[in-house]
Amino acid sequence: MENPFVIKSYESKELFCDREEELQLMLRNCINNTDMTLISQRRMGKTDLILRLFDELSESQQEIHTIYLDISVSRSIDDFIKLLAEATMKSFQPQTSIGDKLMTFIKSLRPQLSFDNITGDPQLQITYQTAHEKEYTLRSLFEFLDNQDEHIVIAIDEFQQIRDYPEKNMEALLRTYIQQTHHLTFIFCGSKKHLMADIFSNEKDPFYNSTAFVSLDKISEVSYSTFIRKLMNERGRNITDEAIQFILEWTRRHTYYTQQLCHTIYANGSTDITIDDVKQACQQLMKQGEAVFLQYRQMLTDKQWNYLIAVAKEGCVQQITASKFLKRHNIGTPSASRRLAESLCEKGLLNDDITLEATTYSVGDVFLSRWMERL
Ligand SMILES: Nc1ncnc2c1ncn2[C@@H]1O[C@H](COP(=O)(O)OP(=O)(O)OP(=O)(O)O)[C@@H](O)[C@H]1O
Ligand SMILES: [Mg+2]
Repeated sequence: MENPFVIKSYESKELFCDREEELQLMLRNCINNTDMTLISQRRMGKTDLILRLFDELSESQQEIHTIYLDISVSRSIDDFIKLLAEATMKSFQPQTSIGDKLMTFIKSLRPQLSFDNITGDPQLQITYQTAHEKEYTLRSLFEFLDNQDEHIVIAIDEFQQIRDYPEKNMEALLRTYIQQTHHLTFIFCGSKKHLMADIFSNEKDPFYNSTAFVSLDKISEVSYSTFIRKLMNERGRNITDEAIQFILEWTRRHTYYTQQLCHTIYANGSTDITIDDVKQACQQLMKQGEAVFLQYRQMLTDKQWNYLIAVAKEGCVQQITASKFLKRHNIGTPSASRRLAESLCEKGLLNDDITLEATTYSVGDVFLSRWMERL
């Protein structure tokens, strides 16, 4: 039987764990046409939750269309328009009323249109003369969608990418278009770190101010253990409570890592899974990661590398300037510690989880963290 622990992207609601509360909230927001901003740490399950939501919408009585676009590869407003147009074409099939109108509209942009020879997905190439023309095209595309008298939800994943566009007015443009549309609901999705940084750097006029925030945390221990047991048992596998507990503890219930570990355990084939099977899979995953971990070492100074190890050995650190932490790991002054933490956060190797009470630092990649603990 196929491995039920999905490690690529959303497959079905049977293989999707919990997120019921967030899902209901997002459904309500969609129905009420409330724009949303979805944030979490990396690899916590944002993209999958959007796809889960879209799946639910497609099954519901609500006549709501969905468009998903991931803009992580986009470098400019041109790319953004291209991705939006392609995602729209994918979402409205030809030979439907909107599909036909859409095709006419797209053709009016005089693009070169081709189809990916593997996936069959449409691919567009549009040439512009001026910046004005681009903005006009983007606006027309939103207007076109808004004028269909259909409720459409548009999810823009990896939204922080627009910060790197050469066009610095992208936020302002989007804000204007979004405010002018009536039948479009937007979901902006991205890593907590970057979207939060944007929110604070634009305090006067934050782009996300008028959106509802949905923040994804870890899946609860109860939900995740029930889920793991169910998927295993349904496929004729037994697993001990102790083994499940070890999985959730070792991966810190960070979705991506928990899924990876369960996937490996399942793939290894044991029908009576004990804590020893789990430990063996943990070893495998650390071994698999090693080549990449050693690359990190090349990228970092000795001080940075040792600092990362220090945080890994602590698991998580709340007070990076506390003398106990500094002394134990030979880090030096509080300001040196702050500088190191900052540079490692910048590289994405360290997470800083900011709450009202404290900032907690941990190694972002759970497998790397576990591997470093033992150095
Ligand atoms: N609720 C869930 N149940 C089961 N698997 C999940 C769930 N949520 C996410 N996953 C799996 O965990 C992995 C990470 O999820 P996803 O890619 O959605 O995270 P993300 O927050 O979008 O990450 P990134 O910050 O890298 O974009 C994927 O393999 C996904 O299939
Ligand atoms: Mg994602």
